[in-house]
Amino acid sequence: MSCDVRSFYHNKNVLLTGGTGFLGKMIIEKLLRTCEVEGIYLIVRPKKGLTPEERLKNLFDEPVLNKIRENKSKYFKKLHTLEGNLTKKELGLNEEDKEIIRNKINIVFHCGASLNMDSILGDAIKTNVRGTSELLDLIKNNQNINAFVQISTAYSNCYERAINEKFYDPPVNPEFLIKMSDELDSNILNEISKGLIGKWPNSYVFSKAVAENLLLTKGKNLPVGLFRPAIVTSTVSEPLPGWSDNLYGPLGIILSSYCGILRVVRANGNLKSHTVPGDMCINAIICFAWDISNKWKSSNENYLPPVMNYSAKNTKLLLSVNDYLNMVNKTDFPPFKKAMWYQVLFLIENKFCYITLKFLLHTIPSYLVDSLLIMSARKTRTKNIYMKIERTSDILCYFLLREWEINNDNVAKLWEKLNENDQAIFNFDINSIDLNAYFKDMLTGMKKFILKEDMAKSKLHKQRYKRLTLLHYSLKYSLIGLSMIPIYRSISKLIFQKKR
Ligand SMILES: NC(=O)c1ccc[n+]([C@@H]2O[C@H](COP(=O)([O-])OP(=O)(O)OC[C@H]3O[C@@H](n4cnc5c(N)ncnc54)[C@H](OP(=O)(O)O)[C@@H]3O)[C@@H](O)[C@H]2O)c1
Repeated sequence: MSCDVRSFYHNKNVLLTGGTGFLGKMIIEKLLRTCEVEGIYLIVRPKKGLTPEERLKNLFDEPVLNKIRENKSKYFKKLHTLEGNLTKKELGLNEEDKEIIRNKINIVFHCGASLNMDSILGDAIKTNVRGTSELLDLIKNNQNINAFVQISTAYSNCYERAINEKFYDPPVNPEFLIKMSDELDSNILNEISKGLIGKWPNSYVFSKAVAENLLLTKGKNLPVGLFRPAIVTSTVSEPLPGWSDNLYGPLGIILSSYCGILRVVRANGNLKSHTVPGDMCINAIICFAWDISNKWKSSNENYLPPVMNYSAKNTKLLLSVNDYLNMVNKTDFPPFKKAMWYQVLFLIENKFCYITLKFLLHTIPSYLVDSLLIMSARKTRTKNIYMKIERTSDILCYFLLREWEINNDNVAKLWEKLNENDQAIFNFDINSIDLNAYFKDMLTGMKKFILKEDMAKSKLHKQRYKRLTLLHYSLKYSLIGLSMIPIYRSISKLIFQKKR
């Protein structure tokens, strides 16, 4: 049987923004390993003193490319870096590279973005809105384009509780917003940002909502499509089980909790959250481009850009936060060497109770640890770690105190269009996951790929964690015992007085 999706990518030139990011790396790996693409062009900026070429070379040392490393020379030839920056006019590309985009590229995955929910509005606009606008301008006269996939987020219109697979009205005209961010003094823009953002909880989702609209305006005569993933977490199996290098959302909470640092989060544990595995998400993205191309070809000038929400609705991953954490707790995974304490996590909805517990479980221990560090003439850092964690928790609590219905009918429709071979190669059916294995791999993957711990020493780490558990319970019961003394004294006093 043929593989329609693979055939679609055969000898095609792909342009990818965000290729050094979590989703981008998986897209590169999957396309190289499974499709005979002619080339993948990556818009990469220089960073931390490294040129785009050096960054690309380093990518091959990462575990996510383990499977294709053996044939590095074959694949490396297909990868090309275009030095650029999403915040710059014409993406800061040189003439030669602009020509490649204008003439040579067949498929675009626009993955690059600033995901910092805490960033100032001006920065979010420059990367997420202006970047998309400049890219669409560069590609608009390309006669060879088959598909342009804009990766947004399922939460771009999160002021609504039901997110449908459609375009929403933008909060503000994108062109106007770009002009404003270019012309206004950044201090003034900051001052008015709260009013501009309005019902959106942060600059990231706001800028993503505005950028989506550009597909309808600047992407008017192009085969564009909008892909909105929910919260993307570890891979199920490809290229490795449990791979992630990304700590947004639940992975960050789980990791810092199992490191014994995070002990309380403001959340309603009964609300359902939409998480989706990374490998399945990029498989859906790859198939979505194929679908866009087919729709474009058969549309006869009445092309309506498709929208796809890749969420957990109607899948076994639509779990409440409590269920999610229970699945993690049930998992028999090797504990982290970096664990500072036994894992305990309270999910508290009430603000007052949350602040009180935060003081008891974060602030006091952080001061105690820092005092010990000062006494042993070492650098203090615990207070700063907690300040960072609490800032992130405050931003995330908007999403942990609400529940969304993220409709995803178009995912099932796309699945039905694939033949068996394509379904096997590009599996994005979340219901095919074995949940127990998935959670075990997720936690093991965090130890291996994020904390980079020596798996051969897992036995030692288990013994160490047993000691932390003993310490935790000894401290807990000693504190309970100590707090009982005054109660015991008052009761015995009462009884004694009565007897007299
Ligand atoms: N991860 C999720 O849970 C999730 C959920 C929903 C939607 N999404 C969407 O999926 C896409 C990819 O997310 P991700 O998780 O892969 O994010 P990520 O790991 O943070 O990667 C972001 C990528 O964008 C690039 N980038 C940022 N600013 C840039 C600039 N000014 N110029 C050039 N490149 C720039 C980064 O390059 P550098 O390496 O140079 O920084 C990096 O390659 C984003 O559009 C995001 O909104 C992600």
